[in-house]
Amino acid sequence: MRIVQKIEDIDYTETKQFFEHRASKFKEDNPYAVTMYQDDHPELVTERNQKEVEKLKPMLAVDQNTRLLDIACGIGRWADAITEDIDEYCGIDFSSELIKIANERNKRENFFFYEGAATDIASVLTKQKKGTYNTVLVIGILVYINDKDLDCFLEQLESSCEEHAKICIREPIGQQDRLTLKEFYSDELNDEYHAIYRTRDELMKFLNNSLIKKGFHIEKEGFLFEDDALNNRKETVQYFFILER
Ligand SMILES: C[S@@+](CC[C@H](N)C(=O)[O-])C[C@H]1O[C@@H](n2cnc3c(N)ncnc32)[C@H](O)[C@@H]1O
Repeated sequence: MRIVQKIEDIDYTETKQFFEHRASKFKEDNPYAVTMYQDDHPELVTERNQKEVEKLKPMLAVDQNTRLLDIACGIGRWADAITEDIDEYCGIDFSSELIKIANERNKRENFFFYEGAATDIASVLTKQKKGTYNTVLVIGILVYINDKDLDCFLEQLESSCEEHAKICIREPIGQQDRLTLKEFYSDELNDEYHAIYRTRDELMKFLNNSLIKKGFHIEKEGFLFEDDALNNRKETVQYFFILER
């Protein structure tokens, strides 16, 4: 089903099953396809990953004091991108199978991967006796969170941040309209897919109500890829926000 404009919830159980199924397709020689899709275009996966990291990583100004929280970390694609010595990396994802792969792939002693839902990050961090973070990645996750849970998610995200922090949000957005895919059979993924593509203005409303009220400002925002060949979908496009306080 394709639902245009109307607000419609997706089912998290279906999303979780989808990602557990993706995990079973993990391949060492094309590791990032598991969460970047494009199963039929491995070269696009490599190029998109490289371009994304090249564009966004300098904005994070990673150094030895960086305490990085990666919400919905998947197999730790961004953990791989952080080659510098940092203070700590903590990745959280609700797919036990993806977290298992992340733990097998990443052996650095101050890099941690935990299973947990994005709407439960506060309790995951408390349970693991974690502190707060000065750099937070929200990459490809808001599309899987229903409107009714977004404020609660952003509240927990804000309380996981140090007084001075940077947040990088990178999401596919609806170019013209909000679009929800629900039980949508994708030939490319060979599976049913569920996601909510909000417009930039819809996302801004949520950010204004939460992070911006709590002292963050938008330092930068824009389209992730300038090259049209990397934006190979008609209705959605990859967009980013860098928030700071
Ligand atoms: C498109 S992938 C992005 C993964 C990673 N951030 C990256 O950029 O490679 C989306 C990730 O979100 C996770 N996810 C989806 N819904 C979630 C939720 N409610 N709580 C935690 N993780 C979730 C999936 O398991 C998957 O790893």
